[in-house]
Amino acid sequence: MEPKELMKLAETAMKRSYAPYSDFEVGAAVLTSEGNVFTGCNIENASYGLSMCAERVAVFKAVSEGEEVAEIAIASIEGDTKPCGACRQVIFELNKDTRIHFMKDGEMVTATATQLLPESFLLQTKFKGLEPS
Ligand code: THU
Repeated sequence: MEPKELMKLAETAMKRSYAPYSDFEVGAAVLTSEGNVFTGCNIENASYGLSMCAERVAVFKAVSEGEEVAEIAIASIEGDTKPCGACRQVIFELNKDTRIHFMKDGEMVTATATQLLPESFLLQTKFKGLEPS
């Protein structure tokens, strides 16, 4: 699947955003190594800290179905949106080579999880094969 098509699916997922507190609607679409797509939207809560980003909803859906995250596209109501630091950390640990597609100055750009999270946190004892970026 082309990144542009994945971005379209992220835009569609954004329409299901539940963001009554921030009014900032976000959608994400994950393409797995198995070739399946899992989408997500941000879901907020009156207890603000319980809110969840669109990226992690999509990533957790994929991983909980036993699949590996290969690519993720992110769309938001504002157009330009980069994944937050928490989502970068989660994506990096699951697959440091994940290709992340996001909008910057109205254009879609792609970077790897490693590129977006230099000096990443990892428990070395648990991840012998995975070097921090
Ligand atoms: N949000 C995401 O869904 N993804 C991001 O990468 C950044 C922020 C959500 C969280 C919250 O619901 C709203 O956007 C405003 O921060």
